[in-house]
Amino acid sequence: MSTFPTEVPALRTAVDDQARHVRSLKEAKTAKEALQPEILRLQQLKTALEAAIAAEAANAPKNVLADQRRSLEDLLKRRFVVGQAFEIYGGVAGLFDYGPPGAAMKDALISLWRQHFILEEGLLEIECTCLTPDPVLRASGHVERFTDFMVRDTVTHECYRADKLLAEHVTARALPNETNPTRKARLEQLVHDVDTYSQTELGAALKEAGVVSDAGNQVSEPFPFNLMFATQIGPSGLIPGFLRPETAQGIFVNFRRLLDYAGGKLPFGAATIGQAFRNEIAPRSGLLRVREFTLAEIEFFVHPSREGRHHSKFGSIRDLKVPLLTKKAQETEGDDTVIMAIGDAISQGIIDNETLGYFIGRTALFLKAAGLADSRTHGPTPQDSAFRFRQHRSTEMAHYANDCWDAEIWTSYGWVECVGIADRSCFDLGRHSEKSGSELVAYERFDEPKDIEVTVFKFDRQGLGMALKKLAKPAIEFLEATSDDARKAYAAELESKGFITIRVKPEADKKKKKDDPESAEEPQEVDVQVPKQYVTIATETKRIHGQTFTPSVIEPSFGLGRILYSLLEHAYYVRGGEDEARAVLSLSPLIAPYKVALLPLSANDAFSAILGEIRRSLSAVGVSCKVDDSGSSVGRRYARSDEIGIPFAVTVDFQSIENRTATIRERDTCTQIRVPIAEIAKLCYDLSNGNVMWADARATYPEQQQSASDSVGRKE
Ligand code: ATP
Ligand code: GLY
Repeated sequence: MSTFPTEVPALRTAVDDQARHVRSLKEAKTAKEALQPEILRLQQLKTALEAAIAAEAANAPKNVLADQRRSLEDLLKRRFVVGQAFEIYGGVAGLFDYGPPGAAMKDALISLWRQHFILEEGLLEIECTCLTPDPVLRASGHVERFTDFMVRDTVTHECYRADKLLAEHVTARALPNETNPTRKARLEQLVHDVDTYSQTELGAALKEAGVVSDAGNQVSEPFPFNLMFATQIGPSGLIPGFLRPETAQGIFVNFRRLLDYAGGKLPFGAATIGQAFRNEIAPRSGLLRVREFTLAEIEFFVHPSREGRHHSKFGSIRDLKVPLLTKKAQETEGDDTVIMAIGDAISQGIIDNETLGYFIGRTALFLKAAGLADSRTHGPTPQDSAFRFRQHRSTEMAHYANDCWDAEIWTSYGWVECVGIADRSCFDLGRHSEKSGSELVAYERFDEPKDIEVTVFKFDRQGLGMALKKLAKPAIEFLEATSDDARKAYAAELESKGFITIRVKPEADKKKKKDDPESAEEPQEVDVQVPKQYVTIATETKRIHGQTFTPSVIEPSFGLGRILYSLLEHAYYVRGGEDEARAVLSLSPLIAPYKVALLPLSANDAFSAILGEIRRSLSAVGVSCKVDDSGSSVGRRYARSDEIGIPFAVTVDFQSIENRTATIRERDTCTQIRVPIAEIAKLCYDLSNGNVMWADARATYPEQQQSASDSVGRKE
């Protein structure tokens, strides 16, 4: 009998695999004798898993963060905020579905993002396809370089992302047992630099740290694994393609249309919100690392010069202070985050340019508006900021970027990248121009015409005709049509080598084409050498009124799922004693799934007409509400709405019938006011959009005594 792994994660995978195996045997109607040992093995694996979980729980030091995360995850599952996709078929790692409250929260986050960026910045929003043909992602560099390094357990063949395994192994296993200070410092260094390693360095680091798999086996050398899901487009299978790993390419390939739409002027920004797909190697961090997720991306096109990166609205965020973890601090001085005004960071050369700084500032304001406080009120540990901007070190930058800052949010998993803000310069437009043959450029008209020196070729047409025959005319046309830069390069080559080699199509045989146009073959491109003796190189002065150029682009890229999960962790807290513990999601009303819980005090028919009236008045002003007319006590129903983060609860009671008022209760303070029914919709609208604060509403309307069953742990 084969041995079982000893660690919980490996055992979990083994149980899942074996369960799948047994299911497929059953489906294939395998004979009982063959099936029985496999079922037995499944039972044994399950027993081993339970024992390992119990042993882990008994030995592990109490991990408060993980406990808190577990109860949050339990809440998210229980109230169907999110659920594992295809769970009834055993589920697939890294795929999740959002239930009604989760979908509503995500929708609210998207609305906030649209308002904050698309409306406020006047961006052009487009929607592009997820299926992307191979040449597009080849041009963007993803086919070649969108890889992570992977290692395999040499016995079980389980896959791991090499950098994550190294970091996990060192942090969880090696460091706690290390007593030698020099060795300890070295191990810490390995984790610190993990994002910067090349394939060879990673292999060496894994060996140095003595990394083994969860099952305790040796792991292979790291090798690159492309994260894109490959597919074929069309029934013939002849058009290879991929599910897009980012939404940005849709904007780049539409650049010409967008520029036209923007009136041909820079700067302008385009945005798109949609699904992205990455075949993550070992998606273990719950909702943070998934295989399909929603990205909201902005491509802000600017002139490539330094002046082009000035931003007209920079003044609005110049003095905004943000937490920055610079490249320099990470490379030389230890991980010290500094709180700094964005204007100062730019003048000190820390943030490269105004447009990058502007989007860092706007991102900070967005995260705050979404509910991330400056300090970690409900966060795992009380540190200064719930988020920070970390600059990429030169060795960790994506293949397309030349300066990059990640907005990282503090979670129970540590700092998590949720937004990437990269200066991609002209990488993408340049590559797509080159590979598609379609020039993705903008034109600038000069204030004053300029005289420039250009290189021109003069040809000895007769001599060249004799030498190159049918290739002479196409060669001349080719060289005359090249850009000035290309002509300069050819001129240098002619001087140094005495000839240049270019690729052209010979002229078609005119007579043949005329006589028999159907059968005349289209000539194929061939290499031709143009000798120097037939070309004179000269420099001429030319007056120009403008020029074309490839714009640069600044790209803020938001992973909405990661932001939402981080918001949930920060919003989650438990109030009341152990007996009466009640979970609360203290979400900003802007992100809350419903703004109002609407409750009748009890199941009495007398309340239903007023309840219906309030519900209609709320929906008329666009305030979402969830009616809870179940039989539970009103306190229990308040608790249920607190759990999914509904900020206000409107309750219809006997006084409502007498004097046409109802109570409004606020989630975090559990305080209540009594408000005329005619004013409820407007007040709820203002409260949930932040136009009126709860304290002001309390000062305006009479206080209502809270119900006895709602007295648990109020927060005032
Ligand atoms: P990581 O290093 O965590 O894999 P990345 O650097 O590859 O992330 P980017 O390519 O910059 O991420 O993607 C932009 C944003 O997309 C990230 O800031 C993150 O919010 C989100 N994102 C990336 N990968 C995932 C994923 N597997 N699941 C959920 N969100 C993701
Ligand atoms: N507003 C009624 C109650 O809380 O009991």
